[in-house]
Amino acid sequence: MRGTLGSLLASAAVARAANGANSTTAITADGSNFTLTGDGVSYLFHVDPSSLDLVSDHFGGPATDFTPPANIYAGGWSDGLTNTRREFPDVGRSDYRLPAIHIKHADGDTVSAFTYQSYDITAGKPALPGLPATYGSDSDVSTLTVRMYDNYSDIEAVLSYSIFPKYNAVARSFRISNNGTSNISIERAASFSVDLPNLDLNMIELQGDWAHEMNRVIRPVQYGETGFRSTEGYSSHIHNPFMALISPTTTESSGEAWGFNLVYSGSFATTTERFSHGYIRVLLGLNPLHASIPVAPGDTFQAPEVVAVYSSEGLGGMSRSYHDLYRNHLSRSNHTFQTRPVLLNSWEGLGFDINQTSLDALAQQTADLGIKLFVNDDGWFGKTPYARINDTAGLGDWIPNPDHFPNGLGPYVASVDSFTVANTSEKLQFGIWMEPEMVNPNSTLYTEHPDWVMYQGKHPRTLTRNQLVLNVGMTEVQDFIIQAVSNVINSANIRYIKWDNNRGIHEMPSPAADYEYMLGLYRVIDNLTTTYPDILFEGCASGGGRFDAGLLHYWPQHWTSDNTDAADRLTIQMGTTIMYPPSAMACHVSAIPNGVTMRNISIEYRATVALMCGSFGFELKPVDLSAEERAAIPGILANWELINPIVISGSFYRLALPDDTNWPAAQLVSQDETTAVVFAFQQQATVKPAAPPLRMAALNATAMYRSNAFNGTYSGATLMNAGLNLPWQVEDYQSMLIYLYKQ
Ligand SMILES: *[C@@H]1O[C@H](CO)[C@@H](O)[C@H](O)[C@H]1NC(C)=O
Ligand SMILES: *[C@@H]1O[C@H](CO)[C@@H](O)[C@H](O)[C@H]1NC(C)=O
Ligand SMILES: *[C@@H]1O[C@H](CO)[C@@H](O)[C@H](O)[C@H]1NC(C)=O
Ligand SMILES: *[C@@H]1O[C@H](CO)[C@@H](O)[C@H](O)[C@H]1NC(C)=O
Ligand SMILES: *[C@@H]1O[C@H](CO)[C@@H](O)[C@H](O)[C@H]1NC(C)=O
Ligand SMILES: *[C@@H]1O[C@H](CO)[C@@H](O)[C@H](O)[C@H]1NC(C)=O
Ligand SMILES: *[C@@H]1O[C@H](CO)[C@@H](O)[C@H](O)[C@H]1NC(C)=O
Ligand SMILES: *[C@@H]1O[C@H](CO)[C@@H](O)[C@H](O)[C@H]1NC(C)=O
Ligand SMILES: *[C@@H]1O[C@H](CO)[C@@H](O)[C@H](O)[C@H]1NC(C)=O
Ligand SMILES: *[C@@H]1O[C@H](CO)[C@@H](O)[C@H](O)[C@H]1NC(C)=O
Ligand SMILES: *[C@@H]1O[C@H](CO)[C@@H](O)[C@H](O)[C@H]1NC(C)=O
Ligand SMILES: *[C@@H]1O[C@H](CO)[C@@H](O)[C@H](O)[C@H]1NC(C)=O
Repeated sequence: MRGTLGSLLASAAVARAANGANSTTAITADGSNFTLTGDGVSYLFHVDPSSLDLVSDHFGGPATDFTPPANIYAGGWSDGLTNTRREFPDVGRSDYRLPAIHIKHADGDTVSAFTYQSYDITAGKPALPGLPATYGSDSDVSTLTVRMYDNYSDIEAVLSYSIFPKYNAVARSFRISNNGTSNISIERAASFSVDLPNLDLNMIELQGDWAHEMNRVIRPVQYGETGFRSTEGYSSHIHNPFMALISPTTTESSGEAWGFNLVYSGSFATTTERFSHGYIRVLLGLNPLHASIPVAPGDTFQAPEVVAVYSSEGLGGMSRSYHDLYRNHLSRSNHTFQTRPVLLNSWEGLGFDINQTSLDALAQQTADLGIKLFVNDDGWFGKTPYARINDTAGLGDWIPNPDHFPNGLGPYVASVDSFTVANTSEKLQFGIWMEPEMVNPNSTLYTEHPDWVMYQGKHPRTLTRNQLVLNVGMTEVQDFIIQAVSNVINSANIRYIKWDNNRGIHEMPSPAADYEYMLGLYRVIDNLTTTYPDILFEGCASGGGRFDAGLLHYWPQHWTSDNTDAADRLTIQMGTTIMYPPSAMACHVSAIPNGVTMRNISIEYRATVALMCGSFGFELKPVDLSAEERAAIPGILANWELINPIVISGSFYRLALPDDTNWPAAQLVSQDETTAVVFAFQQQATVKPAAPPLRMAALNATAMYRSNAFNGTYSGATLMNAGLNLPWQVEDYQSMLIYLYKQ
C-alpha cells in the first residue's frame, strides 16, 4: 500500500488497505488520514494540508472518525503550530514546545522543516538495523511508514508505526537520512512523541537506586515539564525507561492507562510537557545529554523503538499486554517459554573465597538439596599478579585462575556435572558469572590496551568499584568480548551465563559514545546468543540496573535486585511487573539476617516471594541452613515444580500492593486457565484490625474450584467477590501459597 503527496493534494484519493488478513486491515489510510486499529485501541493522525505537518487526532480507546480539534484561542504570541497536536515536532516553525527531533546543521543552525511526502502500509514489521525491537509475522503486526522531508537541509525522516492489534500496542521509531552535502548531528531524538488533549492525567514511574529498584511513584502531569532521565550511560536503577499515564480514577483493574517503554539499554529521557492550552506532549527517547550523534552525508541514524500500550482495564490490563507482547514478540530466546532450572549461586555463600575444593563441596551440597544448576559467581579468573581474589584486579582477563583451577574449567565442570541431583536421575548443571564490558586497571587487558576504555583525553579515568568501562562502541572491543566469552563457553560444559555490569559510564570521548556503545553491545550479544542459542543468559547490572526491554530482546531473564530481603523484594518485584513479565525476573532465597537490611524473615516467606519469578534459586551456603530451613526445602522445590510452568506462560495479577496494605498479594493464572496460584502475605503482626478477605481475579465465575486452602469447592464468583479469609497469626512476615484448581 503506498500513497504520495500527490494523492493527498488530490484529496479525493482514497487508499484503503486490502481486505483479508488483520495485519493490513489494522491500518487504513483515507487520503492522508491514518488509522491504526487494535482490539481495544485506536491511533489516529493526519496530514495537515497547509503545513504538511503530521497532526495527532487520537490515541486511546476505539474511535473511527476524524473530528475537529479543540477550539483554541489563537492570539498574541501563541499562534500557529504551537496550538496543534503534532506527531513529529521539530524546531522552529512556531512550536514553542520541546521537539521530538532536534538536528544541528553544519553551519550551527538547528531549525528543521519536515513535511509529509508519502506513506507505505505493509504486513509484518521490518527489523531495526543494529537495534533490538519487537517483531512478528504478517498476521501479528502491520506497519505504516511515513516519509517526511526537509527541503531546506535535504534531510529525510522516515517514521515507522507498527500495530500489534491483539496487544493494543503501537511500536514507533524513526530514522533520519542525511541527503545533503554537509555533516549534521542529532541532538535530540524522542522515538515516540504524541500530543494528547487536555486530559487530567497522572504519571507513574519506577524510581530507585541500587538495592532499591522499581519503586512505583505517581505524580500529576503538571504545566511545564514532568519527567525523568538516566544520564548513567545505561537504563539504570535510578529510573527505568518506562512511564505510564493514567486517569486519576484508574486502578489496577479499571480505567485508562497508557504505557510507554523504550527498547534500549543506554541513557534515556522521558518528558511530558503540558502547554498553556493544556495539551500534553509525550516524549520518550535518547537523553539529549548523550546524543550529538553525527550523521555524515549519505548516512542514516536509526532511533531505538518505543512500545506504547493502551489499556481500558487499568494498570493490570496494561501490564498483561506488555507481558504477552514481550514474551511472544520481543524476546528472541528459545528459553522464554521453557521452565528454568532451580539454581544455587555461590556469591552470597562464598564471595571471593573460592577454589576447586570449596566449589566442589558447595556443588555437592547443591545437588544433595535437589537443586539442578550450580552457578559459580565472581572470583574464578585472572592470573597473578592480577588474580581475581578481590575486586581490585582481574576484570578483563577471562582465563581461569590456575591457582584455583589447575586443570582449567573443563575438568572442573566435568566434576560438577558428575553429581546427581537428589531425588532425580538428572546430573547437576553448571553456570558461570562474567562481567565482559568491564576492566580493572589491574589486569593484563588494561596493561595491553589502555585506550580500550571509555575516557576523555585530558580527564582522569574515574573508578567505581575499582573498575573502568570498556568502550564497546569500538569494533576491536566488540571482537575481544565475543572471543573472550566464546572461549569460556567452548572450554567447558557451560549451560548458563550470568552477564553482570557493575558501574555506570563517567567520562566519554563524545556524547554519542553512549549510543555507539549500545550498538556495539547489541552486536556482541546478538552474535553470542545466535552462536549459542542453548545457553541460558541472565542479565545483571548490580541488580536491576539494566533490567530493560532492550536486553530482554536477547536474554530471557534479568537479576531483579541485589537486595534479596523478601520484604523489600516484594515491592521491587511488584514494580518490575508493571511492564516486564514475571517470567523475566530472577529471584533467589538468601540467608538471614539479610546482608542488606539485616532482617530475619522465615524461609517460607522468602521462598514465596522468590517463587513468583521465572528463574528461582538460592544464594546461600546449604551447610549454614538451620534444621528448620533445611526441612522446608523439599516443600519449596515441590511448589517450584508446580508454579514455574505457570509463571513462564501464565497471566499475572497484582491483587494488592505492599505499599498500600499490610496484606499484599499477587496471582498467576495458567495459560489454559485451569489453575491459579495466589501468593499471599502478611507483612507486620497486627492485633487489630482483621485482614480484609483476599479477593481473587480472573476466575471463571460459574466454575467450581478446589484448593489446598479450603475443603470442598467454591465458585469462581465466591472467590472473586466474597474472597477468602486467611488464617493469619499475630506474627510478622507470614506467607501462603494458595492453589485453585478448576473442576
Ligand atoms: C482478525 O482479528 C479477529 C479479532 O482479533 C480474529 O477473531 C480473527 O480471527 C482475525 N482474522 C484473521 C484473518 O487473522
Ligand atoms: C480527514 O480528517 C479531517 C480532519 O482531521 C477531516 O476533515 C476529513 O474529512 C478526513 N478525511 C477523510 C477522508 O476521512
Ligand atoms: C520539497 O521538494 C520536493 C522535490 O524537490 C517538492 O516536490 C515538494 O513540493 C517540496 N515541498 C515543499 C513543502 O516545499
Ligand atoms: C535520502 O537518502 C536515503 C538514504 O540514502 C534514501 O533512501 C532516500 O531515497 C533519499 N531521499 C531523497 C528524497 O533523496
Ligand atoms: C564530516 O565530519 C567528518 C569527521 O569530523 C570529516 O572527516 C568530514 O570531512 C566531514 N564532512 C563534511 C562534508 O564536512
Ligand atoms: C580452598 O579454600 C578453602 C576455603 O577458603 C581453604 O580452606 C582451602 O585450604 C583451599 N584449598 C586450596 C587447595 O587452596
Ligand atoms: C586485594 O588483594 C591484594 C593481593 O592479595 C591485596 O594486596 C589487597 O590488599 C587486597 N585489597 C582489598 C581491598 O582487599
Ligand atoms: C591494584 O592492585 C593493588 C594491589 O592489590 C591495589 O593496592 C590497588 O589499589 C589496585 N588498583 C586499583 C586501581 O584497584
Ligand atoms: C560472531 O563474531 C565473530 C567475530 O567477529 C564472527 O566471526 C562470527 O561470524 C559472528 N557470528 C555471528 C553468528 O554473528
Ligand atoms: C534453540 O534454538 C536453536 C536454533 O534456533 C536450536 O538449534 C536449539 O535446539 C533450540 N534449543 C532449544 C532448547 O529449544
Ligand atoms: C466457565 O465454566 C463453566 C462451567 O465449568 C463453563 O461451562 C464455561 O464454558 C466456562 N467459561 C469460560 C469462559 O471458560
Ligand atoms: C478440611 O477438613 C478437615 C477434616 O474436617 C480438617 O481437619 C481441615 O482442617 C480442613 N482444611 C481446611 C483447609 O479447612
